[in-house]
Amino acid sequence: MLKIRPEALTDIPAIHHVHSLAFGRVNEADLVDALRRVGTLTISLVAVQAQRVVGHIAFSPVTIVSDTAAVEAIGLAPMAVLPDYQRQGIGSQLVQAGLATCGKTRYGVVVVLGHPHYYPKFGFTPSKPHGIEWEHEVPEDVFMVKELQPGALAQTRGVVKYRPEFNEV
Ligand SMILES: CC(C)(COP(=O)(O)OP(=O)(O)OC[C@H]1O[C@@H](n2cnc3c(N)ncnc32)[C@H](O)[C@@H]1OP(=O)(O)O)[C@@H](O)C(=O)NCCC(=O)NCCS
Repeated sequence: MLKIRPEALTDIPAIHHVHSLAFGRVNEADLVDALRRVGTLTISLVAVQAQRVVGHIAFSPVTIVSDTAAVEAIGLAPMAVLPDYQRQGIGSQLVQAGLATCGKTRYGVVVVLGHPHYYPKFGFTPSKPHGIEWEHEVPEDVFMVKELQPGALAQTRGVVKYRPEFNEV
């Protein structure tokens, strides 16, 4: 049976392994370690099956900057499931559990850069119509937002900046 729970110290090597294998490179795995090192791995959940870490999802703070304000929000990234365990709904369970945890934080908005057919089923919609854009140019449908607290999106406009650790990826 699959269990989703917050990471424990002993999961750290397994989390690194999941990202390295799923992405086929160490960049995302190293990013998770870097975020943890500076204390900004705000939400870190593992999916465990038969006592093995088979998936991981991370959320860290982002800033949405406009001419008049800088709003703190939270960003989903990165997420990975071991190749042999993909397409069994584990990623979806991680997103749902992650969003439920986000709902208990002080953040009003969550952002994600990702597959335009995957994230809408969790309530994400393209950010641009809400006046929110990523700081890098990407196709409009891959950068998405979701409201965590009623009314939060109406009060948020601007350019999304991730933590500097993301620049190393
Ligand atoms: C993205 C990922 C975590 C999804 O995990 P999962 O457990 O397979 O997810 P689910 O079983 O809930 O859903 C699978 C569906 O998501 C789709 N999907 C999700 N992300 C996708 C992506 N980046 N590219 C293509 N398809 C994607 C798949 O097509 C699949 O749909 P289908 O079964 O209808 O064809 C996993 O594929 C993975 O680790 N990929 C490599 C790392 C990555 O790209 N991470 C996301 C960016 S941070």
